[in-house]
Amino acid sequence: MRRITLMQYLIEQQRKQQWINSDLRLLVEVVSRACKAISIAIGKGALAGVLGGAGSENVQGEAQKKLDVISNEILLEANEWGGHLAAMASEEMDHPHQIPHRFPRGEFLLLFDPLDGSSNIDVNISVGTIFSVLRCPEGVAEPDEQAFLQPGTQQVCAGYAVYGPSTLLVLTLGHGVVCFTLDRETGSFVLTQEALQIPENTREFAINASNMRFWEAPVRRYIDELLAGKSGPRGQDFNMRWVASMVADVHRIMTRGGIFMYPRDTKDPTKAGKLRLMYEANPMAFIVEQAGGAATNGRQRILEIQPEGLHQRVAVILGSKNEVERVTRYHREMML
Ligand code: AHG
Ligand code: MN
Ligand code: MN
Repeated sequence: MRRITLMQYLIEQQRKQQWINSDLRLLVEVVSRACKAISIAIGKGALAGVLGGAGSENVQGEAQKKLDVISNEILLEANEWGGHLAAMASEEMDHPHQIPHRFPRGEFLLLFDPLDGSSNIDVNISVGTIFSVLRCPEGVAEPDEQAFLQPGTQQVCAGYAVYGPSTLLVLTLGHGVVCFTLDRETGSFVLTQEALQIPENTREFAINASNMRFWEAPVRRYIDELLAGKSGPRGQDFNMRWVASMVADVHRIMTRGGIFMYPRDTKDPTKAGKLRLMYEANPMAFIVEQAGGAATNGRQRILEIQPEGLHQRVAVILGSKNEVERVTRYHREMML
């Protein structure tokens, strides 16, 4: 089999399909290189003293891990000087990061969750990086928060890296989804899967059941029906998995199907969910839809939500199409 590296793949996309220009190609290459650096830092673990808390909090009031801060720095530094970006935004920064004036500016906005699932880092369970790319609105020289507040349908590219037994990079340029595996010996990401497709049906679900008492009625009904198994209304048994790293849970679904839910609940009524729209839900929804799956907040397609804040939270229901449609229908029938 011909070995196609990420760089070759991107050059071919630019040449044959003209789906991307040189700046977007550079952007994906730079992000992939940053993910490689993050993967190396994670791999060293206790040997490099990178585990544990950083002793600080991010804008969402969450305690930062050392690797949250390190991964954020790696992505910022890698992407600042290439001339492909107008600005960056991250889970770990209150406000957008401007490109220093000494560097040229490009047409794209990059958003990221530098380390997803960071509560898993100290117990050696898979974590990841999630990123989303938007175009900077015309005529905006110093993009503020407002410039980023575009619905997910406007994304030109999205991807995630999983730092698991292998390091993977999963990518969409809006024409299907491809997966690359990091060859640790050559340092290249090599194409290992094309045209990823999420099966429409599934018997596997992912939800943090410790929140059950806070769920809304449609979610309760749906999960009750799954738990009732063969003798219940679904007439079949379902299996459950919850890694607590969205990247790992989503990657399992990309591979063998499933439904992932972090629904809105009544635990903290001021929050619409736990996950963040701009750098978690939108890129994952884009990837999942490009693989034939679906993604809603129970009420509407995630990609069509008009964002109101950079760190806005949202309910997330994504994965195998028929199950996502069923939960969304339960919301429509029971919540209106
Ligand atoms: P992050 O580490 O970037 O803050 O994201 C954590 C998220 C997501 O990865 C995961 O699905 C979810 O939090 C797990 O939440 P619980 O700990 O409530 O299960
Ligand atoms: Mn996250
Ligand atoms: Mn994170």
